[in-house]
Amino acid sequence: MNTTFLDACFSKKTPYTPVWYMRQAGRYLPEYRKLKERYTILEIIKIPELAAKVSLQPIDILHVDAAILFADIMIPLLGAGVDLEIVENIGPVIKHPIQSLEDVQKLHSLEPQQDIPYLLETIHILMKELKGKVPLIGFSAAPFTLASYLIEGKPTRDFIKTKSFMYTDTKAWNLLLQKLSDMIIVYLQSQINAGVQALQLFDSWIGALSEYDYQKYVLPHTKRIFETLKKHETIPLIHFGTNTAGMLATFASVPCDVVSIDWRISLAKAWQKIGYEKAIQGNLDPVLLLSDFSLIKTQVDTIFDSLPKKEGYIFNLGHGVLPNTPVENLMKLTEYVHNKK
Ligand code: CP3
Repeated sequence: MNTTFLDACFSKKTPYTPVWYMRQAGRYLPEYRKLKERYTILEIIKIPELAAKVSLQPIDILHVDAAILFADIMIPLLGAGVDLEIVENIGPVIKHPIQSLEDVQKLHSLEPQQDIPYLLETIHILMKELKGKVPLIGFSAAPFTLASYLIEGKPTRDFIKTKSFMYTDTKAWNLLLQKLSDMIIVYLQSQINAGVQALQLFDSWIGALSEYDYQKYVLPHTKRIFETLKKHETIPLIHFGTNTAGMLATFASVPCDVVSIDWRISLAKAWQKIGYEKAIQGNLDPVLLLSDFSLIKTQVDTIFDSLPKKEGYIFNLGHGVLPNTPVENLMKLTEYVHNKK
């Protein structure tokens, strides 16, 4: 089994730097786009054979060191009966956004075996197909990011409704985050039981908050999720956020093994703020992959030159792969990082 990725998550020495990419299964791959001519993303996710196939594509094409389950952050909500769609080029859209305490009270809990059997089946297929070739990463959104979609009803840039709800109806906000945290814990436990070997919690939009508000309105909930999952000692936990440069020490204070960093801060500075006992992942700007490979190489060199140590470093982008990324660049990048001394 290729344990390079798992070993790096636990800050162990590895023969080379492991690589995987957020959104490595997706639209930049012609093989995926072909499937998308016939199926919507939710249809693919609900057909385990197809979802597993999509997860495996980047392993064969890019030779990355981990697979990620093909799903979306909205799946637990879909399983719990929330009426939603994933609209092409826009993102998740909720039919009846949450506006009040009553709306929060109506949110159902999740019973994975019953509500999302297809997802568990996808994991079973992947475990069989991967045969330990590389580990499988499971994931969920963090409570703030899920709450933001539920309250805004669609992607947003300023999070005004979300933050107003948080400031003015704090009781309902805390109940919402508590219910979402329960849902996320059950969801991730079911992924572990089905076989995933690592977990990433995506708090994609957490950078909309100040450090003070993060600490006050979100951290206790996120912390509970990590504390509960930490009992699985062999499963590394990755905390992902963007725009976190101003609150990294706090963001990293949950009991996670790895912190994922975006490109807005250098890894050297980030690691110093986080503390060297945790592993880090990141942080090339995904837009760079649309440029010439010589420039990409220079920036990868800069990242590696800045690292105070190699143990506990996982190469990734600062956020997901963009749809118009040339596959060739990702193939070359993976090989370049693998050969880097
Ligand atoms: O390869 C992988 O990373 C696994 C699959 C994956 C998807 N979504 C599939 C997907 C993962 C890990 C996600 C997580 C996700 N979904 C996040 C967190 C990661 C991040 O990027 O911050 C978020 C915020 C979402 C919500 C979401 N779903 C958005 C913003 C979009 C893009 C909408 C668009 O069309 O531009 C989606 C749709 C989505 N999820 C796609 C994929 C491959 C693209 C649309 C499609 O294929 O139909």
